[in-house]
Amino acid sequence: MKIAMGSDHGGAELRIELIDYIKEMGHEVTDFGVKIGEKADYPNIGIKVAEEVAKGNFDCGIILCGTGIGISIAANKVKGIRCAVTNEVFSAKMAKVHNNANIISIGGRVVGSEVAKMIVSEYLNAEYEGGRHANRLKIISDYEGC
Ligand code: RB5
Repeated sequence: MKIAMGSDHGGAELRIELIDYIKEMGHEVTDFGVKIGEKADYPNIGIKVAEEVAKGNFDCGIILCGTGIGISIAANKVKGIRCAVTNEVFSAKMAKVHNNANIISIGGRVVGSEVAKMIVSEYLNAEYEGGRHANRLKIISDYEGC
């Protein structure tokens, strides 16, 4: 899969670790920053990654900030984006299976790197179930007008 990644300073170290892990899984990663030691406003990174995913340039996105919350709020402002905060493994799996989330966000100050790898692995390996969930997603996309 082609995966877009990005974080602010709150998620930078964890993001760098996850990029190596995801590449080892055989995926292609494009990193939208930031560099370690650089400060960034999470909405700019979240919106950038979300726009890239919404345009269809990537299969999905993985974004991080201190909690995963702020950057997910920003990403969810982009039409067509379903970004889920996934700071534990069950939510990571269900974000794909029920919600067909096209981006997940993780808190670099909330989870350690081994849990974060499990989160990413569950999300990337899960499959959207469709069926009864499809109408629920349609309600959201109808509201968005896309
Ligand atoms: C930055 O200090 C922090 O506020 C940010 O990374 C994030 O946790 C916001 O939701």
